[in-house]
Amino acid sequence: MTRQAPARGKLSDRLAGKVAVVTGAGSGIGEGCAKMFARHGACAAAVDIDRAALERARTELKEEGLDFAIRQADLTDPGAVGDLVAGIGAEFGRIDVLVNAAAVADFVWIEEMDYERHWRRTLAGELDTVFLMCKAAWPHLAAGGSDASIVNLASVNAYVALKGSAALAHTAGKGGVLSMTRQLAMEGAPHGIRVNSISPGMIVTGATKPVLEKPEFVAAVKEKLMLDRLGQPEDIAWMAVYLASDESTYVTGADFRVDGGALAW
Ligand SMILES: NC(=O)c1ccc[n+]([C@@H]2O[C@H](COP(=O)([O-])OP(=O)(O)OC[C@H]3O[C@@H](n4cnc5c(N)ncnc54)[C@H](O)[C@@H]3O)[C@@H](O)[C@H]2O)c1
Repeated sequence: MTRQAPARGKLSDRLAGKVAVVTGAGSGIGEGCAKMFARHGACAAAVDIDRAALERARTELKEEGLDFAIRQADLTDPGAVGDLVAGIGAEFGRIDVLVNAAAVADFVWIEEMDYERHWRRTLAGELDTVFLMCKAAWPHLAAGGSDASIVNLASVNAYVALKGSAALAHTAGKGGVLSMTRQLAMEGAPHGIRVNSISPGMIVTGATKPVLEKPEFVAAVKEKLMLDRLGQPEDIAWMAVYLASDESTYVTGADFRVDGGALAW
């Protein structure tokens, strides 16, 4: 199964007029989403804890003749998140879309898992980042009265365990993101906020690069796939564009598995 040629430059106006905040935009899926949103006409604010990574991503996007704003913040810090979102709201005048892709997780077998260093850090890195951004952005998203969209990144690990992957804390975090999405969708509906999640399979990113260097791990992952390739950030970004756009105004509380068929057999 071949993938389509990488998209570059301005592609459409599917997100024209929308102000989108994309977290984790310094790497992988968040970076893929932030760049893709710019290609589809959104005014994007790209957020990450890593400023150098944001600057690299922005430089690459500028080579396509496009741009986004960059903002550095630690999204596990409630004060920093409050300042970040207030600043974006004031500067851009509105927030229509929030993509929560920032996360950090420790993959450790239970025997070695340390409560603070691994368990708490992963739950803060996967759940606090989503909760704090949703909470801070909520009044801005609600202010428009309709057509606001939150896109959370869950995972196939919210559904299944992968043999050989020490994903205990990650499964708890992503199971939480999956169920938070449904609850937020219910709470958001009266305010015109739709909330959906994407559950990626194995996507080639900075986070997965170390494990994907192990051929036996790649073989175990591919064994689970219907399509004979690993995913790329753009595979997820295309789904995020749909969920952020007016094409999906009847879609909320849903999870979209973008996983090469991994969960289907
Ligand atoms: N890559 C995969 O195979 C895969 C599969 C399923 C789900 N996911 C999910 O998709 C999302 C993106 O994953 P990825 O593989 O692109 O990860 P990545 O590590 O490549 O990128 C994550 C980015 O988030 C940033 N970040 C982490 N903690 C932060 C914080 N506290 N504040 C601000 N920025 C922070 C990092 O600096 C990094 O740039 C995550 O939620 C991840 O759990 C990824």
